[in-house]
Amino acid sequence: MTTEFKDRIIMITGASDGIGQRLAVALAQAGANVIALGRNEEALSQTQQHIEELGGRCLCIPFDLMEFDAYGKLFLALKDQVPHLDGLVHCAGSIDRCTPLQYVKSDTFRKMLDIHLTAPNMLTQIMLPLLKRAPAASIIFTSCDMVDQDQTNWHAYGLAKRALAYAASMWQLEQPEAPFRFNTLNPGRVRTELFKRAFGGTHPKEVPAASSVVPAYLYLLSDRSKELRGQSLHAKDIIEKENSAPTVE
Ligand SMILES: NC(=O)c1ccc[n+]([C@@H]2O[C@H](COP(=O)([O-])OP(=O)(O)OC[C@H]3O[C@@H](n4cnc5c(N)ncnc54)[C@H](OP(=O)(O)O)[C@@H]3O)[C@@H](O)[C@H]2O)c1
Repeated sequence: MTTEFKDRIIMITGASDGIGQRLAVALAQAGANVIALGRNEEALSQTQQHIEELGGRCLCIPFDLMEFDAYGKLFLALKDQVPHLDGLVHCAGSIDRCTPLQYVKSDTFRKMLDIHLTAPNMLTQIMLPLLKRAPAASIIFTSCDMVDQDQTNWHAYGLAKRALAYAASMWQLEQPEAPFRFNTLNPGRVRTELFKRAFGGTHPKEVPAASSVVPAYLYLLSDRSKELRGQSLHAKDIIEKENSAPTVE
């Protein structure tokens, strides 16, 4: 256990699996109170059990981010029991298959936009009063390689991820005096269910584990990165920089 995030309250979407789940455990180990969102109740309770075994605290909320009409209820359920939010990390995501734009079906296209673009923006919007109550909240949108690379076959997934970088910057410009900050983080390719679905043919051992990118999220949530506002960042750059920084004796 460390104390870098002692008593901080951080909400993570996609905390039942993959990157979000690894981040939830790491934050709890560093002293944070985690609010974990996901749909799969069994997987969420495993996240909670793991955290509690390590001596951490976790409030698990089964929640489908595609149910936009339920966002208000989620806020009302939290507003009196959670004093503020020091962080909001958007890790939820899904993809069924890569398809060229000429073949993608409209409902698939819309679903990708909703889970990867509408949901993180609307959840941020509804949680804004709790984020404003914290002294310096950090909001992280999870992007991907298409945030700054043109690649084929990613249809609305790629479009939504690229738009997230603009969203982070727009949020920041619209809230210039606010104590909180918005950034986009590209984790790069890591071994998760989502990765397996998108890249079925890749041997899993060729891809790093999801836990390998957690230090970049921790950095962006911490006071060590308080100057970073409205930026589009890559996990590998942050981790390289952190690893090469001189250690304080
Ligand atoms: N893995 C990679 O190589 C990679 C690369 C670049 C970017 N990313 C991004 O990183 C983020 C995390 O991905 P991952 O690889 O960790 O994926 P993952 O292991 O498949 O986890 C995805 C998470 O999102 C949740 N989720 C999906 N749909 C949801 C919904 N409608 N409502 C609530 N929660 C929902 C899932 O939980 P439930 O099923 O319990 O709802 C799960 O916890 C995603 O935004 C992804 O686009 C991943």
